[in-house]
Order: sequence, then structure tokens, then C-alpha cells
Amino acid sequence: MSHDTIVVGGGVIGMAIARALAPERSVLLLERDRPGRQASWAAAGMLCPQSEAEEDGDLFRFGLDSLSMYPGFVSELRDETGVDVEYRADGVLALASGRDEMDDLRRRAAWQRRIGLDAKLLDGDAVARLEPRLTLQAEGGLFFPGDHQVRPRRLLDALERSCMLRGVDVASDAAAAEVLSAAGAVRGVRVGATEIHGPSVIVAAGAWASSLEGLVPRVETRPRKGQILSLRMPGPDIRRVVRWRHLYLVPRNDDRLIVGGTDEDVGFDRNLTAAGVGGLLDGARRMASAVGAFPIVETWTGLRPMLPDGLPAIGEAGLDGLYYALGHYRNGILLAPGTVEIVRAALEGDPAPAYAEAFRPMRLAESVSADRV
Ligand code: GLY
Repeated sequence: MSHDTIVVGGGVIGMAIARALAPERSVLLLERDRPGRQASWAAAGMLCPQSEAEEDGDLFRFGLDSLSMYPGFVSELRDETGVDVEYRADGVLALASGRDEMDDLRRRAAWQRRIGLDAKLLDGDAVARLEPRLTLQAEGGLFFPGDHQVRPRRLLDALERSCMLRGVDVASDAAAAEVLSAAGAVRGVRVGATEIHGPSVIVAAGAWASSLEGLVPRVETRPRKGQILSLRMPGPDIRRVVRWRHLYLVPRNDDRLIVGGTDEDVGFDRNLTAAGVGGLLDGARRMASAVGAFPIVETWTGLRPMLPDGLPAIGEAGLDGLYYALGHYRNGILLAPGTVEIVRAALEGDPAPAYAEAFRPMRLAESVSADRV
């Protein structure tokens, strides 16, 4: 078996890359489970560089850039597959329940406005006008019209169909064990006892990248468990994404309201816990007491892949033909189209945007050797 490019990992990142490279290249996508069933499937789908960021920086710039690619990305997917991924551009409201939280929102508004972004500070009355069913006694809020959302499971469905239509060879239940190389160049991937040959390998294996042998540099991803759930919302009680502390409420186009999310450092443990689900529900009811009567539809967990410095690793790695696209932590859905462009530039020897320097995979080798000094 031989392919031009082997993509390891069938989450949003791996599938977005695989479809972008096909059909010009013959692409094999290896997924240990079924495509799109892990962290990407668990995501709420907020496309929120502004409400997620504490400060300006490379990750923030990357998020803005990737978000700007979303309208084109989703309309191409819709034209190609017929799947509407429910892209919504109705903004995100962040709430402050006390003076310290309001000071934090003012600080965010100030630095974001300084660089020309829209971030509207609201008093309690203005928050109530925007979201009348909230019951949290909000000191105020910050509205980010530029933050958007998408429905991840639809997006994953569209990406998988697109991969099929473009002739990507998608292999489920195919856990890559090792990247094979000789004389500093990639030769392929081993799955169990089977060797699959190809001159380029793109590792998009999320939290499982650290168990892959043969990587140069080695990757130490940490799974960060998110517990999350959905409720049935009988009417339009919550109109847009609303965030408060670590909580978010995300209304879908049908009657679903997503409530997320915990962020836990507990290895590969996938359990839902009383504290996790209870905390989400208590927080959601404080935000809008009507939520207490909404039926619970589904609860689930996902493992976000986090690298030691919290940044993704995207681009050329330490073997000829080896590329990384991993470690997207809380932002895999948002960063998918931007990641495709960085990987494509690396494969074709084109210049990448300046911020991509911060995500160089080779920094992982430097931090390991610095730790050992
Ligand atoms: N991006 C939101 C989360 O990871 O929970």
C-alpha cells in the first residue's frame, strides 16, 4: 500500500487537511476510532477568538485569521456536500456578576478596541435587553459581535462526506502505532503489523499523538477533559452564545441548548462526574433560572489535546516529510481552516503567516533539551 500523504487522526483538523490535499494528492486518513468521534465531536462549536482570549498574541491573531476563513470554508462544504453546518454570526455575550469580573471585561474591551476590534461594554440593563431571560444579577457584560458559532457534528459530517467525494481513503479502527523513517526521511506509518508507505505523514492525532512511536520531535500532549451536556429548550430563552466564568450556553438552530464545559487534568479518564455535571447545571440555572425546567437530552465528555505551552504545533517536524497539526486544545474547530493553510504552505514551500512561527513543531524539541540542561 502506498499513498502520497498519510494523515494520522480523523478529527476536524485531520479531515480538513485530508480533503484540502485531495484529489491532487492520493491521501490516506487513519483514524483509531471512527472519523470525527472524539474531541471535535464533543466541542460546543464556539468560534470565539475574542471572548476566549486574555491577551493579544500569536494564538489570538491565528484565531481571528482562521475565523475570517470560515464563511468560505462552510459555503464550499455546503456546495460540495449539501450539509448546512449552521454557521451563525450573532455574536457572543460575556457576563460579569461582580466588580472584579466587570474590571476584567473592561480590560479586554480596552485592548481589543485598541487594535480595532468591536467589543461593546454593556450595563446590566443593556444585558437584559439583549438576553431578557437571564436571571444572573449581572453587573454588566461585554458583547463581541465578531465571535460566531458552528454546529460541530454537522461540520464533521460535511468534512467526512467531502473526504469521500474527493477520493480520500478513510480507514476507521486503524490506530497508527509508529511513524516509519530511514536516513532522516519519512517512509510511512505502521498500523499493527501492517506497514503503509508514503513520503509524507501529517500527524493530527490530538491527545493520542504522544503514544505514537517514531515522532521527531516527541510530542507530549495532555488530555484536558471537558464535560458538557445538552438540554431541550422549549422556546427562544437564550438567543445567542452567553458566557460566564468557565461556563457557556450555546443555543442551536433547533431546540437544543448546549451547556459547557469543564476543563480537567485527569488523563484519559472519560467519566461524567456529579461535580462536573452538577456544576454545569448549577451555573446554567444561575445564569437563567428557566433552565432548571429544561429536559436533559445528552451528556458527554471529550479530551482536548494540550501541549506543555498550550499552543498548537503546526508545520514541518524533524524528519523530511513529517508534519504536525496537533495540540489545538480549546480551539480545534475554530483553528481548522487556518491550520489547513499553514500545513499547505509547509508542504508546498510557501511562506506562512508571521504568527505561525510560534507554532513551529521544532520548539517542542527545544523545550525538552532546555528542561534537561
Ligand atoms: N472552546 C471551548 C472549550 O474548549 O470548552
